[in-house]
Amino acid sequence: QNCILVGAPVDSGQSNPGCLMGPASYRVAGLASTLEELGCSVSDRGDVVPRRPEAAISANPAVHSLAEAIAWTQALSKAAQEAASAGFPIFLGGDHSLALGTVAGVAAHAKQQQRPLFVLWLDAHSDFHTPMTTRSGNLHGTPMAYIAGLGDFDAFPPFPDPVPVERICLFGIRSVDPDERKALHAHGLTPVDMRELDERGFVAPLRGFLEQVRAANGLLHVSLDVDFLDPSIAPAVGTTVPGGATFREGHLVMEMLHESGLVSSLDLVELNPFLDERGRTARLMVDLTASLMGRKVFDRANRSI
Ligand code: ARG
Ligand code: MN
Ligand code: MN
Ligand code: MN
Repeated sequence: QNCILVGAPVDSGQSNPGCLMGPASYRVAGLASTLEELGCSVSDRGDVVPRRPEAAISANPAVHSLAEAIAWTQALSKAAQEAASAGFPIFLGGDHSLALGTVAGVAAHAKQQQRPLFVLWLDAHSDFHTPMTTRSGNLHGTPMAYIAGLGDFDAFPPFPDPVPVERICLFGIRSVDPDERKALHAHGLTPVDMRELDERGFVAPLRGFLEQVRAANGLLHVSLDVDFLDPSIAPAVGTTVPGGATFREGHLVMEMLHESGLVSSLDLVELNPFLDERGRTARLMVDLTASLMGRKVFDRANRSI
């Protein structure tokens, strides 16, 4: 694999400063050398720099940092499309509002390749607000709705090629606001929530989604929010929610994704190094990425779980 690291030090999508240190933290934790040890060639394109934000005021007074979010979306969309056509992009966040841009760029790339884009959203949250429905005003709660093509996105550029809900899998979800629940229902998108994962385990629902991607010869973008993981193993995030994926479950998901051979791009989001404990969350995210890129304990030709 030709891995392309793209730093996205976005901090404007929430109100707990620190995510801007995420890219530096992944670099310090040795992401590049870890990937090289797995046989990947790695090029680090450094951090994306957005243009100076043009004034933009949301129709919803709760929304903050709209102009910054639009500037990031434009810059990251361009960087993501370029990186996707050159290799396997890994976007180092930055809060989750960066996915407004990265997935836009990846979607433009998929369209150019004439391949359907699928999105796997590993998160405690559904991030299915629009700028009109958010109460917190934090735009990191909106990218999934943007990607699915919902209207009401203020002065954002229209999403290039909206991803139909049949190609979206929200996985690990355990915190959904009332307006998000309404919108998810209206658009026929049912998350794979923790309730379902408790009952069915992680393997069957994930395998079902991956089979759809394979059958459609799709590209697969994975967006990994730190808060997908249980706060006891991943404390460095501003929006912890109890009851997340364990260490074992997190690695299992990543190993299955590797074995599928279907993943074409990855976001690492919401790491706030200011909240970390001796780098453990950054290191865990690097180790999970290693599992996704092929690190395993033991190689066997046929694994049937
Ligand atoms: N739904 C909540 C909000 O809109 C939380 C969103 C958390 N999103 C995230 N990417 N961590 O404020
Ligand atoms: Mn999120
Ligand atoms: Mn989240
Ligand atoms: Mn957050």
